[in-house]
Amino acid sequence: MTEHIRIENRDGVLKLTMARPDKKNALTNEMYGALADAILAAETDANIRVILLRGEGDMFTAGNDVGEFAAIAAGKVTGERHVSRFLEALAKSSRPIVAAVQGRAVGVGTTMLLHCDLVVLADNALLTTPFVSLALVPEAASSLLMPMRIGYARAFEMFALGEAVDAASALAWGIANRVVPLDKLDAEAGALAARLAKQPAGAVSTTKRLMRNPEVLMAQIKAESEQFAARLKTIEAREAFTAFAERRPPDFLKLAKQSAA
Ligand code: COA
Repeated sequence: MTEHIRIENRDGVLKLTMARPDKKNALTNEMYGALADAILAAETDANIRVILLRGEGDMFTAGNDVGEFAAIAAGKVTGERHVSRFLEALAKSSRPIVAAVQGRAVGVGTTMLLHCDLVVLADNALLTTPFVSLALVPEAASSLLMPMRIGYARAFEMFALGEAVDAASALAWGIANRVVPLDKLDAEAGALAARLAKQPAGAVSTTKRLMRNPEVLMAQIKAESEQFAARLKTIEAREAFTAFAERRPPDFLKLAKQSAA
């Protein structure tokens, strides 16, 4: 349990709120664990017909906690990594998932949207996937889902250059269903979730299963995870995390010069 994930269950809608606003809802191992447990528990709870994902404060989430990345890279982390359970629960969930996104959605904050079935963006939403800038690789099957959704050209630019995508582009490219003014975000996402909750749950989940193949997604997640774990241990990644902690831009060219010397 963590106070950074708030869980509310009302009228068939399980609302999961990332609630660590002082750290821009950066996701810790504990938070992934709580999200995974809640999504898994929903599978066997007939009263939960829809899952609604949202973030507290001025942004959806700044993605994985970079301090935890650094700790893993330094070999200082032991015990279960709940991010894998979270991604698996998300990819396999039979419940329709609605996301309400304001401000930034960084890294997994954007890639988790590809597993959501209805995405509502506030007009200030900004989606970024700066994995490569952190010397990492895309995860959550996004290396498959993103090019499928928006085409290779746009997806590669998002991943390799960390190019930000604003709400209007995300809508035009098919990442999102709706863009609404920020003050209407919760009402719009809540209304869509309520509409979905009134639909026949069996038909909704079977439709979702026909449209998404969890086996394909899990194979991609596994391939990505192996590369991700290897990249975390590189000197490139160490430079990226140190730069974040020191609040300076990383210098990857310096590394090339050092290894050439
Ligand atoms: N991991 C850990 N802490 C984070 C974080 C993250 N991903 N994102 C933000 N924070 C923390 C900051 O360190 C800061 O903590 P402090 O107040 O103790 O110094 C606090 O949250 C506020 O962040 P700040 O950077 O001041 O907010 P901002 O509005 O100026 O910028 C972001 C927001 C998201 C643009 C910026 O924080 C950022 O780039 N974060 C890293 C995103 C990232 O690379 N995620 C991993 C993707 S794979």
